[in-house]
Amino acid sequence: MPIVEAQGKKIECQVGDNLRQVLINHGIDLHNGGSKLINCRGIGSCGTCAVKVQGNVSEPNWRDRARRSIPPHSPSRDLRLACQTQVLGDIQVEKFTGFWGQYEQILW
Ligand code: FES
Repeated sequence: MPIVEAQGKKIECQVGDNLRQVLINHGIDLHNGGSKLINCRGIGSCGTCAVKVQGNVSEPNWRDRARRSIPPHSPSRDLRLACQTQVLGDIQVEKFTGFWGQYEQILW
């Protein structure tokens, strides 16, 4: 079973699990600040679940690409929307600062 490393935790999940749900269900602070309350709940429209992922995950779908092409995100940045990403193997996840997690400074 895949291991998700995030915010100092190692979480075991199933192949194909939704990354946003895995993180939230295990108490990871996926959403920064006010975006904990103000977010789209995983439909891929707000962009606040953006993270950097290393490891085996699904290819970016059209919602992921579309939302990350709109500021404050940038399509050239190697982020992913956790809510549009399936875990396929062991991964490491990083979160950056900013309401959308859009800045360069690593939060965790
Ligand atoms: S939770 Fe809104 S885009 Fe992922």
